[in-house]
Amino acid sequence: MKLENKSVMVTGGAGFIGSHLVEDLVDEYPEKIIVVDNMALGVEKNLTYTRERFDRLKLYKKDATDFHEMKKIFEENKIDIVFNLAIVPLPASLVKPKETTDDNIKMVTNLCELQRLELFKTLIHFSSSEAYGSAKIVPMDEKHPLNPTTPYAASKAAGDHIVLSYYDTFNSDSAIIRPFNNFGPRQNEKSYAGIIPLTIQRIVNGESPVIYGDGRQTRDYIYVTDTARMAIEIYKNERTRGQVINIGSGSEISVIELIQKIMEIMKCDKEIRYEEKRPGDVLRHLASIELAKELLGFKPQTSFSNGLKKTIQWYLNR
Ligand SMILES: NC(=O)c1ccc[n+]([C@@H]2O[C@H](COP(=O)([O-])OP(=O)(O)OC[C@H]3O[C@@H](n4cnc5c(N)ncnc54)[C@H](O)[C@@H]3O)[C@@H](O)[C@H]2O)c1
Repeated sequence: MKLENKSVMVTGGAGFIGSHLVEDLVDEYPEKIIVVDNMALGVEKNLTYTRERFDRLKLYKKDATDFHEMKKIFEENKIDIVFNLAIVPLPASLVKPKETTDDNIKMVTNLCELQRLELFKTLIHFSSSEAYGSAKIVPMDEKHPLNPTTPYAASKAAGDHIVLSYYDTFNSDSAIIRPFNNFGPRQNEKSYAGIIPLTIQRIVNGESPVIYGDGRQTRDYIYVTDTARMAIEIYKNERTRGQVINIGSGSEISVIELIQKIMEIMKCDKEIRYEEKRPGDVLRHLASIELAKELLGFKPQTSFSNGLKKTIQWYLNR
């Protein structure tokens, strides 16, 4: 499958991973790119670089939970493919669990339904490793049980089941990418920011880095451009349909190691401050990326160390 001359929608395209995906899509010569983002956490500046190179990008500042609004966008623009990244993030689900789960599930269901109504052909849906919960067996392959701990994670697992149910019942042309923790430039640093942008910000402000819990929890970090590239590869390869595909590095790092690495690069000698463990925090994540290797020849291109240096540099340059 080619993207050339196709019209592509990216929901959540003004966000972190979405804006990198939009950037990569341009190299595939699409007819046009439609970004739908309600700008809750999206930033218009994230699309500047793409806009300078590609003049057929249109941003709809609309709410993807609104079925009629979404239907109208599809009717105005003949769309072939949707990459669905719009999301209310994990930390939001700790303070407003109902809104988070309602919105996250509604956004997926709306798209599945619009696809069933033939308003577009292919859906590449973004899952999350959070859907697995803490590792019961490592490395975690796609058959690992789903034991989501936070309402966010539960909404991600629910979204995956909905996409697969439409695939099974209505033969919808869909595939699911399940990324582990992403990092890189443009990760949200506003409210509900992730640990890397937060730590960089704290160090820049002369504050101590903070760890929630004992810091021995592990994550599998993958650089954002690797994820964006693989989302495109998943679209291009029809053998991915009806499947969930992990994208991670295949190695784990503890939160303490992560913070120490950031401190080392930024030459910070403050004491780390420890705070109460976050509710529902996953203890261990380590991806098996065998399926992505076999189907897509996946090999992460950016190492953790290089990625972290580039990320820190990007935040410092602004
Ligand atoms: N960042 C990670 O480490 C990670 C890991 C695994 C999976 N994922 C998944 O990847 C996808 C993208 O995540 P991200 O980290 O880029 O998040 P992000 O918060 O940077 O981007 C999500 C975007 O969705 C938009 N959005 C939220 N609610 C919306 C609504 N109702 N209508 C329209 N737009 C709305 C936000 O404004 C934001 O720009 C999500 O599906 C997420 O679950 C992310």
